[in-house]
Amino acid sequence: MPAKRTGSGVARSRTVEIDGLLCRRSPHLVSYWRGTDFVVENYATTVRARALPITSDILAFFDDWRRVDALLALRPSDTHDALRSLIAQLLEHSLLQRSDQELPERERAMALWEKWNPAAGFFHVATKDVNFVDMNTQVRSLRERSRAAPMPDPVKRYPGARQIPLPSSSLESEFPRALLTRRTWRRFSRKPVDLSSFGTLLGLTAGIQKWAHAEGEGKIALKTSPSGGARHAIELYTLALGVKNLPRGLYHYAADAHALELIDPNVSGRLVGRYLPNQPWYKPAAALVFFAPVFSRELWRYTYARAYRAVLIEAGHLCQTFCLTATWLGLAPFCTMALADSLIEKHLDLDGITESVLYVAGVGTRPTNAEATPPETRTGRPSMLKRREVQRFPGRIVRSS
Ligand SMILES: Cc1cc2nc3c(=O)[nH]c(=O)nc-3n(C[C@H](O)[C@H](O)[C@H](O)COP(=O)(O)O)c2cc1C
Repeated sequence: MPAKRTGSGVARSRTVEIDGLLCRRSPHLVSYWRGTDFVVENYATTVRARALPITSDILAFFDDWRRVDALLALRPSDTHDALRSLIAQLLEHSLLQRSDQELPERERAMALWEKWNPAAGFFHVATKDVNFVDMNTQVRSLRERSRAAPMPDPVKRYPGARQIPLPSSSLESEFPRALLTRRTWRRFSRKPVDLSSFGTLLGLTAGIQKWAHAEGEGKIALKTSPSGGARHAIELYTLALGVKNLPRGLYHYAADAHALELIDPNVSGRLVGRYLPNQPWYKPAAALVFFAPVFSRELWRYTYARAYRAVLIEAGHLCQTFCLTATWLGLAPFCTMALADSLIEKHLDLDGITESVLYVAGVGTRPTNAEATPPETRTGRPSMLKRREVQRFPGRIVRSS
C-alpha cells in the first residue's frame, strides 16, 4: 500500500500534475441561461454543469491543446489556486479534455457528427431517455392544463374563404380499407402471429425491393417508402415473443436477404414493460420492432444538420407502412415514442450516437369476441359514456366495452 500522504503533500502533487496538463475544450459544448443559472453542457457525454460566466473565458483559452500553466502565466498568482480548482472541475465534468487520457467513446462517436453539430447532436441527445410518467399522472396534469388554457383547436379553417367541396373516389377496395381501419391497438389476443405474416410485414416495411445506380454514388437501395437521397438509414430490429415457429429472441432484420439474424435468444416478455415504460397495455404484444438509423449513411452524403430531420421523417414513413401493412394483414399494430432509448440500445449494442433507436412499433393478433371490433368503433364522447365504461389511454378516451 502506498504511504499515506499529508494533505498539503497531496495538494502540492495535484498542483504539479494539473499545471503540466495539456487540455482542450470539448468540441461538444453548448451553454445557455436557465433562469439565473449559466449552464454549460457537454451533449456528447450528457454532463450538464452550472457555472460562473467567467468559465467561458477559461474554456475559450483552451480551444486547442494548451498547458494549464500557460493559462496561469497570464493570470495573477493569487488567482492560481482558484483557477486550478476550476480546471479540475471542468475536467471532471468533461467540459475540458486531457491529452494523457483516451477520449470517452461518446466524444469520439459525436465527432462523426461534426458537420451537423451542435444543432443535431444537441437535439438528439437532449430528447433521449425522457422520464415518461404513468397514465393517471398524465391525465391529471392534462386536466389541470386544460383548466388553465383549453386544448388548441384540432382543425384550422378560413371562415371567410370560398369553400369548394371535394368529391371522393370509391373507398370500397383494399387500399382505402387498410388506411381507414388502421388504428393503434392496445389489446391483443394471446394467439401468436404467423411467421409468414410477420415476414411480409417486415419485408414490405423495410425489405430492399430493388437496387438502383446513382451517379457518383454507386448502388442504392429502394424500398416501399421514400427516403431522402435513397439513404435508407434505418435498420429494423425485432424483439419477437409471440411469432409462430420463430424462437423468442432479439433479431436484426437483414433488409437485403429478407432474413432475421439472431442477436440474443435469451429474452423474456418482461422486456416489453422495461422498454416501453408505463405502457402496460403493450405487454401482450407478439413483437416489438425498433427503428434504428445508421447515421453514417446520412452523414456521408449530407453535411448539414437538416439531414437529421430526414432521418426522423424516414422513421415516420417506415412506421406508417408498418402499421398499414399490419392492418391489411388483419393484425393489431401500434407505435410509440415512449421508449427507454438507452436500455434498448444497450441490448442492441448500439452506442446511441452512430446508431440509435428512434421509434418503436409493435404488433399482435387482434383480440377475439367483444374486443374484435377495431378500437375506433369503441371511441365516444366522454359525456356520452358512463364512468365505469370509460378507460383512459394517453390523450384520448376509449370505451372499453
Ligand atoms: C409519434 C407517435 C408517438 C406515440 N406515442 C405513443 C405512446 O407513447 N403511447 C401510446 O400508447 N401510443 C402512442 N402513440 C399512438 C397514438 O396515441 C395514436 O396514434 C393516437 O392516439 C391516434 O390514434 P390512432 O393511431 O388509433 O389513430 C404514438 C403515435 C405517434 C405517431
